[in-house]
Amino acid sequence: MCGIVGHLGPKNSVDVVLEGLKRLEYRGYDSAGVSFISSSNDLMMYKKKGKIENLINEIKDKDISARSCIGHTRWATHGGVTDNNAHPHICEEMGIAMVHNGIIENAGELREFLTKEGIQFKSETDSETFLGLLIYHVRNGKNIKDAVIESFKKIHGFSAFVVLNKETSEIFSIKKGAPLVCGMNEVNSEVLVSSDPYALAGIADKIYFPEDEVLCHLSAANSNLLNFYELDGTKSKRYMSKKQSMTHDPAAKGDFEHYMLKEIYEQPELIRSLTQFYFQGEGKESLEAAVDLPRKNLHISACGTAYYAGLVIKDFFEQINRIPCRPEIASEFRYRNPILDKEDLALFISQSGETADTLAAQELCKKSGLKSLSIVNTEGSTLYRDCDVNLLIRAGVEIGVASTKAFTQQVLTGRTLSAVIQNKGMDDNLRNTLSQKYTLLAERIEELLDRSDEIKAVAGEIYRNKGFFYTGRGVYYPIALEGALKLKEIAYVHAEGYAAGELKHGPIALIDEEKVNVALVGPELYEKTVSNIQEIKARKGKIVTIGPEGKKDLEEISDYYIPINFDGLEELSPLYINVVNQLLAYHIAKFLGTDIDKPRNLAKSVTVE
Ligand code: G6P
Repeated sequence: MCGIVGHLGPKNSVDVVLEGLKRLEYRGYDSAGVSFISSSNDLMMYKKKGKIENLINEIKDKDISARSCIGHTRWATHGGVTDNNAHPHICEEMGIAMVHNGIIENAGELREFLTKEGIQFKSETDSETFLGLLIYHVRNGKNIKDAVIESFKKIHGFSAFVVLNKETSEIFSIKKGAPLVCGMNEVNSEVLVSSDPYALAGIADKIYFPEDEVLCHLSAANSNLLNFYELDGTKSKRYMSKKQSMTHDPAAKGDFEHYMLKEIYEQPELIRSLTQFYFQGEGKESLEAAVDLPRKNLHISACGTAYYAGLVIKDFFEQINRIPCRPEIASEFRYRNPILDKEDLALFISQSGETADTLAAQELCKKSGLKSLSIVNTEGSTLYRDCDVNLLIRAGVEIGVASTKAFTQQVLTGRTLSAVIQNKGMDDNLRNTLSQKYTLLAERIEELLDRSDEIKAVAGEIYRNKGFFYTGRGVYYPIALEGALKLKEIAYVHAEGYAAGELKHGPIALIDEEKVNVALVGPELYEKTVSNIQEIKARKGKIVTIGPEGKKDLEEISDYYIPINFDGLEELSPLYINVVNQLLAYHIAKFLGTDIDKPRNLAKSVTVE
């Protein structure tokens, strides 16, 4: 959701924070702001609605230099998108500024109490109630450290806060159920805090993941840059530290017009490196540990694209391993009082490892005594830290808000686990078979990427249409759901994913010449799927078929036919059909001129319920 960055050190902190915020803009981009202590020792604040560029334009001609700064990119929850509601929120009189990520569930109550105490609010946000609490406690004689602790104790819900104190230039941060990471570069005497390790890449050489309710104190004292405290004020050891392995390449977009396109094109290379990781590299150990977990039933919880990856993975586990699977959207699972058995295994799939609902589902399973396994991209994320075993998908940083490469890597990681379980462990034979398959998959995807212009031409014919039905059967059904999601997300076009056989039970009423059916056809249930397309064709729907090559009937029935080579790789074909969907959505969005990498209303990492 919102992105947070704080920096303290000899460099100009405002520059470091703005650079960090730019990297995190994909997390939220309704508005942005910074607060810092100027060289003349004033607490300054600039905040602007809209993209970070607006904020940068506002301050670029000002002669700003600061030794301590906090900043924020917002994804609005409480209060509209306005300059006033943007973070930071500050109290000039007391020299305090703060930023927040999350939702303060008792904000209404707190606001009422604080208003009675004479504290005035300048915004409509829930976040400002935390500032109100800080003011209240400082007024009542608490020092800033205790004020942060006492204010935090009053907050309900999941949140992370970062507070800047003018008097000492210190920064405090604390969180519960929301991501927060600290970083340090001892040589440069720099300390940082952020909602995402990506903001710290290339600056901090060591990163620290505090647990919930641990107060992090960033200080300017050279010998004592970073300290952790419990809520009773005593020193805390509840954090994990590691060397920062993430690098940041500022030219990461390369020649690609959008991150999304770049990430689509990265897929073949990532498949090859995942193969290497699990078959020859460090991944082997976690794979073996995953095989040893109990798995009477498999509960799969995830959100968005990761959930659809879970549906494909379900198919592998049921068809290959005959393990009963219960995939469920995490936001439903967590409140459904699900039937859980200690012999079951809970699998969580997430790119960020920070999605609030997925984390809540994990906590529920943990409390019920289940072992938990993650398929996750972000090493060190909350999900990664909380699960018993983690299978990394090694997709690298995914910047495009619409997830692409993470989906492919998630599905393939699930497929690898299913194969190893079936084989009762990894041996040379399995290694060779899977390596060959995955290499072929990478090649097939490369072939499709080379056909991007052909897919673009189809997009050029259909982008004005008013509604899309993606249909598929069996394992292509989740791919239909994912295809429709991609289009909705980045092109703002109404699209639905449907099991091809189900369309006639209602949605077919919507079909007319304005609607497009993107029909995903595999070798399985071929004739039945073709019949389903006929039903749409008879109602004048426009047909785009992605299906086996060399099929006369498909050519005749389709307005646009994208032939696919399935030979020798039927089982992994959902993954390359999905790449056609990714490119189709990309090109349609491009024709429509939307903001592809940062689509409206969305955020990359949803850290609120
Ligand atoms: C957000 C993103 C989606 C993503 C979903 C789950 O909605 O916009 O692209 O699929 O969250 O995120 P996760 O990080 O848990 O995979």
